[in-house]
Amino acid sequence: MSAPELILALESSCDETAAAVFDPARGLAGEWIHSQMVLHERHGGVVPELAAREHLRQLGPLIERARRAAAGPLGAVAVTYGPGLAPCLALGVAAAKALAAACGAPLVGVNHLRGHVWSPFIPVHAAHPASFSARRDALLPHLALVVSGGHTLLAQAEPSLKLSLLSTTRDDAAGEALDKGAKLLGLGYPGGPLVERSAAGGRPDAFDFPRGIGRKDDLGFSFSGLKTSLRYRLEKMPTSEIEARTADLCASYQEAVVDALSRKVRAALAGVRFRSLGLSGGVANNRRLREALAAEAARAQVPFLPAQPEHTGDNAGMIAFAAWADPDGVDRRGTGLRIEPSLGL
Ligand code: KG4
Ligand code: ZN
Repeated sequence: MSAPELILALESSCDETAAAVFDPARGLAGEWIHSQMVLHERHGGVVPELAAREHLRQLGPLIERARRAAAGPLGAVAVTYGPGLAPCLALGVAAAKALAAACGAPLVGVNHLRGHVWSPFIPVHAAHPASFSARRDALLPHLALVVSGGHTLLAQAEPSLKLSLLSTTRDDAAGEALDKGAKLLGLGYPGGPLVERSAAGGRPDAFDFPRGIGRKDDLGFSFSGLKTSLRYRLEKMPTSEIEARTADLCASYQEAVVDALSRKVRAALAGVRFRSLGLSGGVANNRRLREALAAEAARAQVPFLPAQPEHTGDNAGMIAFAAWADPDGVDRRGTGLRIEPSLGL
């Protein structure tokens, strides 16, 4: 999409209802998000039926706010079409279709993971919209680490803007491992931030947890062994000891996740001459992970591009941005990093 027209994007793939307006000439003109965290907290995880009902309630008002804020005609309506929870995606896509028809604007389906992959480039664009292409090109090829509750992947953005998936997780995602670990420790949901908070008072070397890293040339992740290892360890510990050592357990568990991610990033950076490293997805909020990956980028002498806090978790800003910045979008190798020409829902 080359015309400098406004893009209004919707995101409803999981438990955030979000809308954003992106102006290619200036950057994100507005972002609105309604988090359902409180709704799902008491269930210990996202309940798809409840999430869909909440999206239904929130989408209309969010779209109205975004439309009022959009100062100019819409060049496109973008929407996350997958991956995500089917009933939640379907509502976002239906709303986007209706909006696109009402505005006479084309509808653009954006793969949620491609949104995460490109999100570290949002501030690169915002700083210098007019010279974005040249600045982006200087950062390609780019290595992207996406770490969320549902996904863990390494992807490569080539100078042609083609994205290819380098690796993913064989079992649990990094965020899922933190959430399940937190559940075993009785900390609550979502676990990642709670593990991080508790880890601040503990020693990362107090317990030796497995890294699930496999062969050195294998960039794939595995986190289910880590969670099982914590479960076995807790089964052998009296409750009083677990309580007394929760901070050490969290610090060591978090360190195992960070170390596994860092090692694979290091191996990927050693294999290809990347010119930047990106970090995105909800787990990118983790301070220890950001530090560790900043160190890997420094070691490889490439700029480190962490997504901004408002664009780490699910958000519509990244969907609007990807609709504009990722026009290529078609990867026919069945990697899952793919934008379909039609929405397919
Ligand atoms: O990207 P996201 O908001 O939603 C998905 O698409 O999954 O990521 C949510 C995940 C959860 O697993 C949550 O525990 C984790 O991100 N997370 C964190 C932190 N903040 C959120 N993990 C570690 N440290 C954090 N500070
Ligand atoms: Zn996500």
